Amino acid sequence: MTALSTLPAWQTMLSQAAQLKHIDLRQAFASDPGRAERYSLKACGILLDYAKNHIDDAALANLFALARATGLEAKRTQLFAGAPINATEGRAVLHTALRAPAGSVIEVDGVNVVPQVQDVLARMARFADKVRNGQWLGLDGRTITDIVNIGIGGSDLGPFMACEALKDFGSPHLNLHFISTVDGWQLATVLEKLDPATTLFIVASKTFTTQETLTNARAARQWLVNALGVEAAVAKHFVAVSTNAEAVSAFGIDTANMFGFWNWVGGRYSLWSAIGLPILLYIGEANFRALLAGAHAMDQHFQAAPLEQNLPVILALLGIFYINGMGAATQLVSPYNQPLHRLPAYLQQLDMESNGKSVRLDGKQVDYHTGPVIWGEPGINGQHAYYQLLHQGTELVPIDFIGVLDNPKSSIEHNTILLANFLAQTEALMCGKHEAEVRAELKAQGLTGDVLEQLVPHKVFGGNRPSNTLLLDQLTPSSLGSLIALYEHKVFVQGAIWGINSYDQWGVELGKQLARTIEAELRDPAINGVHDASTNRLIDYVRKALNQKQKC
Ligand code: F6P
Repeated sequence: MTALSTLPAWQTMLSQAAQLKHIDLRQAFASDPGRAERYSLKACGILLDYAKNHIDDAALANLFALARATGLEAKRTQLFAGAPINATEGRAVLHTALRAPAGSVIEVDGVNVVPQVQDVLARMARFADKVRNGQWLGLDGRTITDIVNIGIGGSDLGPFMACEALKDFGSPHLNLHFISTVDGWQLATVLEKLDPATTLFIVASKTFTTQETLTNARAARQWLVNALGVEAAVAKHFVAVSTNAEAVSAFGIDTANMFGFWNWVGGRYSLWSAIGLPILLYIGEANFRALLAGAHAMDQHFQAAPLEQNLPVILALLGIFYINGMGAATQLVSPYNQPLHRLPAYLQQLDMESNGKSVRLDGKQVDYHTGPVIWGEPGINGQHAYYQLLHQGTELVPIDFIGVLDNPKSSIEHNTILLANFLAQTEALMCGKHEAEVRAELKAQGLTGDVLEQLVPHKVFGGNRPSNTLLLDQLTPSSLGSLIALYEHKVFVQGAIWGINSYDQWGVELGKQLARTIEAELRDPAINGVHDASTNRLIDYVRKALNQKQKC
């Protein structure tokens, strides 16, 4: 495997980035009337304006050359063809097959997986129809009003984000609840408001071994059986989503009430699979299929568009330019749309669990930075909290501003103000306010002398802070599907260029192992594990508190 850092295009990128870091973006626009148009692109209903970045034609051309030099196009072919690109687990990575049209042929180990995908989808749709139409009845014959998804990570974040984003398309007769944490407060707080007779639980776990999920599922099952009085209630009120039929059955859920998927679907890429059952229940079959179709449209765009016109590729290369060329350690995702409020949390897992790696596919340590810290929340709230740092702080924070033009529930008054702020922030960050402008403004307010001079440096905005602007016409199942797939492919492109495996997650294992050891020690004071002095003292402190609680 050629070391990325020895590629001529990599070296060129570093020197171009060092220069362009100091580009005056205002000047770049003033001297190049075609810049805004040249650096913008629309595909799958998503407009991307990337003109407010520290780029020029030469830097972009080199980034595309870098992508080609790392074999991106061949790697993309392998991804879609079902090659085992998740090498450390020997698995294909085929979330794209979950949204491929019926009739497509995508093979894993010589077997076309599309018919299996379509079968599960059809079963999910039939089940969802029954619940939505009131034909699926609880033990005492009442219809389902509340659905509780119990899952964590990819078995929670995607469905939760999508159900929030698509609330306007959701059934008014169903209330959705998402339980992820093993902090029992969450489950207790949800259950205390629910009627067991009208509640349906979805236990969602790819492995069906995840401690948090199984602990919550056991507690929910107990709550249900206690309330309804018979074990038979489970068959009417519990379904499972998993790749592990044996564990589902061992848990006590009939596999007739299980919706399966496959080990070639990564947890954080699984909302298109049976993990999307809460979404399908909430928005119905036609809308769920539109979500899949939107993602498929982005798959096609990603596969077919030349790199220079390819949304995921451009987003990925800009990210690499900032991370590796300019030392950006974080990436802010700033949706100006309340239904998208869980998007940053979803993208955190997608990006950080995928590309938070420091070893290349060949086992060698990287000598460059990889995935950034992804963070954010709805942008308008951010403006009144952390945007100060974005405007005048010392960190370089590339930003994805995400807006939606049509916001049916919001009045024109609200929407105009929201979008004005959305646009203003991108402009303010890029243009800043120069010293002369500040001075003139203060003078116009009647300030003079020392008072004016003391204020000037505090009121200067350096500007030149980069951002991408993404605009959706409307937030629909289809456009949401395209948006999520856009980010999935961006993550793929970055991982492919960095030469890492974006599809394993060994880094989550050590903490899980240690938690099991410490759990035993917390339960039994006779067990004393071998830890560092700090952890020992803390275990002792917590154990005493738990014992005290038990005695009360
Ligand atoms: O611990 C991390 C992780 O394995 C994620 O990758 C995954 O999405 C999550 O846990 C939940 O896993 P499961 O769906 O198997 O319960």
